[in-house]
Amino acid sequence: MNTHWNEALTLVAELAHAEGEGNWKDADVAIFPPSLYTRHVFEFIQHAKSGIAVGVQNCASTENGAYTGELSASMLREVGVNAVLIGHSERREYFQESNETLLAKTKLALGAQLTPYFCCGEQLQDRKSEQHKRVVTQQLSTTVLTLSRGDMLKTVIAYEPVWAIGTGETASPEQAQEMHALIRQLIAEAFDQEVAAAVRILYGGSMKPDNANALLSQPDVDGGLIGGASLKAADFSAIIRA
Ligand code: 13P
Repeated sequence: MNTHWNEALTLVAELAHAEGEGNWKDADVAIFPPSLYTRHVFEFIQHAKSGIAVGVQNCASTENGAYTGELSASMLREVGVNAVLIGHSERREYFQESNETLLAKTKLALGAQLTPYFCCGEQLQDRKSEQHKRVVTQQLSTTVLTLSRGDMLKTVIAYEPVWAIGTGETASPEQAQEMHALIRQLIAEAFDQEVAAAVRILYGGSMKPDNANALLSQPDVDGGLIGGASLKAADFSAIIRA
């Protein structure tokens, strides 16, 4: 629930400009504005001939019908949305979204040709009690690891340690790599090495221009899911260059 209308459109315009300067190399970039703005953002991006994809931060866990206030994956697809965040820790915490609900959302997103960005990550107390691997394993084994092979290949995973989101505290590159390697191993065990190598695993949690290089140079960190730093075009662009 960041950015108001003008701020959102200004941010998109600045990003499209930075992209036009041509120093993003071959990075794949998606932005996830508030759902209300997606149609305008999508039209702006098309008009600017930008390659930035547009996602949303949530979708309904039911297909269509009498679910007041909800937006279905298929409705979002119709207005140009390409991707959806599923199970961000704020959704899990403030809206009590269970792994069962998140699996339903993931399947509906895939059915509507949206790329699910499935978020997982442990709380601070899990990390302190060395339960972080068990927690993330459980979040994934009850959800995305039960998908078909083809659907797993279309899914992006984001590891976001809850203690690092919006706190300024970042997982060290070694902590991120350890968890990403575990996630890749879990995918290999549930599917095969080819799927494990192909699925993108992003790191989220206080990624900034000054720590992006160290995190993104880890072998199993394929990209970032950026919160605070994405609200400033210059910072977001610097991370994309990294
Ligand atoms: P921050 O980059 O602000 O820590 O947020 C990460 C995140 O949760 C992105 O969705």
